[in-house]
Amino acid sequence: MKGLFITFEGIEGCGKSTQAKLLAEYLRNQGKVVFLTREPGGPKISEQIREILLSTKNNEMLPETEVLLYMASRSQHTGEWIIPALEQGKIVISDRYYDSTLAYQGAARRIERKLIDSITKFATFGLKPDITFLVDLPAEEGLSRISYKNADRLEKESLEFHKKVRKGFFEIAKIEKNRYIIIDGRDSVEKIHKEIVKKFEEKIRKVKNETK
Ligand code: TYD
Repeated sequence: MKGLFITFEGIEGCGKSTQAKLLAEYLRNQGKVVFLTREPGGPKISEQIREILLSTKNNEMLPETEVLLYMASRSQHTGEWIIPALEQGKIVISDRYYDSTLAYQGAARRIERKLIDSITKFATFGLKPDITFLVDLPAEEGLSRISYKNADRLEKESLEFHKKVRKGFFEIAKIEKNRYIIIDGRDSVEKIHKEIVKKFEEKIRKVKNETK
């Protein structure tokens, strides 16, 4: 595929959505065509699934249902939006992708990794991110940045749950060293953005050298 697929991952309140927007802006200023999106969500069907997933009225949702709904949302998003954009040579930036399922439904809800990997392959048509930024923050700090009153179903989970999610992301980063870039989310927004741009440029240079 011609384009470049970048994902942002991290726990609640880590600031990745802000950073995804800033990177998109930076790349657009460089004349690149960027398609910024997020999960769960995107196209109409995926947005409808998002509502079911995040509603605090759905507390009885089983982990099995949850994982399948995230995947259903992702499948529509990948097939309808992400792959066509990449085929047109765009840079796609997604705020969350399948690593979130490995961290939330895998590490925190204890759904077997092998099972998630196999549904992921099916749901994403085998599409993997080229670069993933993990904006890291201790779970306590992340949760303190969000308001509990307006929190969605996942955000309302316990501190223990979010600690497991964070650990889950680290485990993926260890395995996926080539595409993972870990960023310290405790710095200021500007400092984090600069760091992301620096790491992004380094990575692109490295990839270009490797393919020469
Ligand atoms: P969202 O409002 O997009 O939050 P955030 O700004 O933290 O990305 O809500 C998405 C929620 O869904 C978030 O709590 C993480 C969770 N999630 C999963 O549990 N599994 C997944 O595969 C994805 C994509 C998200």
